[in-house]
Amino acid sequence: MASLTQTRILFIAALSFVSLAGTANSSAPQFYVEGEVYCEVCRTDFINKFSELMPGAKVKLECKGEGEGNITYSIEGETNEKGLYNLAVEGDHEDEECEITLVKSSRPDCDEVPDEGFAVTPNSRITLTQHNGVHGITRHANPLAFAKKEFAPPCAEFLKQIAVDSDDD
Ligand SMILES: *[C@@H]1O[C@H](CO)[C@@H](O)[C@H](O)[C@H]1NC(C)=O
Repeated sequence: MASLTQTRILFIAALSFVSLAGTANSSAPQFYVEGEVYCEVCRTDFINKFSELMPGAKVKLECKGEGEGNITYSIEGETNEKGLYNLAVEGDHEDEECEITLVKSSRPDCDEVPDEGFAVTPNSRITLTQHNGVHGITRHANPLAFAKKEFAPPCAEFLKQIAVDSDDD
């Protein structure tokens, strides 16, 4: 009998250890969100052969819940020497809209955030939940780009070419 009680106590101790470990785990990163930041030298809203990766650019990931101004999660990060950021995100963000936006450029010659004036404001929606069939903890976001103030010289020819190609469709 004594040994059965002892076994039970051990079992309960083991269970509470597991639940403690579970609690500790919930503050660890659940997702890694990675993506690139470019300088888009032709002031288009897509990445092309002239776009240059930008090290040291600041980005922000923000999740919004239901209701006006309901920011449920926010984290900032910076691109490495390859122009790639990697954000460690805590928690599961089902029922929230999460997106990455540009915060600060590292290049004074390329620090404009496009808007409807010349291109669509870049943002990068991302799904951060394990409950919708997407597996894996690393999520890759669409690239983001600051725009150059001055149109780079090879762009004129390039944009003409694109216009011709889209006329063909
Ligand atoms: C904020 O959004 C979360 C997730 O959608 C929701 O559970 C919560 O009720 C919202 N809070 C407010 C104040 O609307």
